[in-house]
Amino acid sequence: MCRKNDERNFAAAIRCRTGRARACYIGKAVRLDMETIQKAVVSRSPAFRSARQIILFARNFLKYPTMLGSVIPSSPFLVNQLLSRFDWARASVVVEYGPGIGNITCEILKRMRPDAVLVAIELNPDFVRFLREEIDDPRLRVVEGSALDIRETLTRLQLPMADYVISGIPFSTLPDQSRSDILRESREMLRSDGAMLVYQFRRTVLPHLKRHFGRVQEDFAVLNILPARIFHCTL
Ligand SMILES: C[S@@+](CC[C@H](N)C(=O)[O-])C[C@H]1O[C@@H](n2cnc3c(N)ncnc32)[C@H](O)[C@@H]1O
Repeated sequence: MCRKNDERNFAAAIRCRTGRARACYIGKAVRLDMETIQKAVVSRSPAFRSARQIILFARNFLKYPTMLGSVIPSSPFLVNQLLSRFDWARASVVVEYGPGIGNITCEILKRMRPDAVLVAIELNPDFVRFLREEIDDPRLRVVEGSALDIRETLTRLQLPMADYVISGIPFSTLPDQSRSDILRESREMLRSDGAMLVYQFRRTVLPHLKRHFGRVQEDFAVLNILPARIFHCTL
């Protein structure tokens, strides 16, 4: 059990790399000021990086709760479960919607072929800046904009249709028209043997996915805060 009522305990939680510790840390981080946090983590650079990521995410959740849909980034368990659905040897163009602070982005890059391209489309300018500063990989194109712009983005980058689209955007809070437009554009920009993966906390998106895709398989990731639904959609 993670109990951190003072700065010393807080620093200990940062050292702890488990999902539970991070969750506790989030609860404290939104109450502590930046100076306290920096004192606690200074000189521990991997922890500092991780702290910076989580604080940035939590701060943005407080500013834009419906745009983020979650106070904490996806867990490594969810990320592994998600990414195991794809055949990385054949993917040459991958699109990620809503990369946030890049926890899935980095894992995609680890699995991707050296000649593949990952296009990460993010609406939030703070996250876009963070991703551009933190991830140095020539295969990554970070685009500030909406998932709705997938067609225009791939055209501008002179890329062919996508093998895979991975979406973490909160479809349940989007207006009907935007959700429908994003799903239609995603399907149209996928290769015929491609797939779209959608992870969400709720199932409300399922009928919309079924309207746009020929086949939708559902999976469940328990080891995440909150447990997530994974939808694997093919044409
Ligand atoms: C639940 S967070 C997921 C972050 C990260 N991928 C993860 O799994 O931890 C949702 C992300 O989608 C972004 N987002 C929301 N609507 C979007 C849209 N229409 N186009 C692109 N990104 C969007 C938010 O800014 C946020 O970064």
